[in-house]
Amino acid sequence: MQPRPLISTQDIAARVPALGSEIATRLADGPLTAVGVLRGAFIFMADLVRAIPRDVRCDFLGVRSYGAATETSGVVQITSDLGLPISGQHVLLVEDIVDTGLTLRYLLDLLQAQGPASLHVCTLLNKPSRRRVEVPLHFVGFEIPDRFVVGYGLDAAQKYRNLPYVAVVDE
Ligand code: IMP
Repeated sequence: MQPRPLISTQDIAARVPALGSEIATRLADGPLTAVGVLRGAFIFMADLVRAIPRDVRCDFLGVRSYGAATETSGVVQITSDLGLPISGQHVLLVEDIVDTGLTLRYLLDLLQAQGPASLHVCTLLNKPSRRRVEVPLHFVGFEIPDRFVVGYGLDAAQKYRNLPYVAVVDE
């Protein structure tokens, strides 16, 4: 089944720079580290950090929670850890999508324990209807309905990550 476009390349290209400016304005002065959650956030992260007009260190966390299924297992596994210390840094956690919130809750606790100066979350997509735990979302690209989406970094069983827009796949 071909994915159907939901958020166009043009809409993404307009929203990401607005997020970058908002982040640069709202985060306190001081050292800033963006932490992208792999693999889904790699394309968003690349565009977002270029839209933040201040020094940004970039790091990544590899996370696995789904396997090939489209429902979260609730069990988060770190497949690749941070390479840089984040103690004393303003940390911006960059997510592709927040669905149940279980992955983000786990990652926030993990990062908070490492003593950042502050911890903020930026997610490209938010699916609020499926939330199972409360999580703070400071910067949100787009709110979307309860559909499984792919593209712009997001996958369905490792397919479609390189689509230049966000699309819905009918399961
Ligand atoms: P959560 O723990 O349920 O919030 O799920 C977060 C993670 O599940 C995201 O970082 C994605 O990797 C994946 N995910 C959730 N919804 C979707 C979707 O619609 N398409 C692709 N991946 C998704």
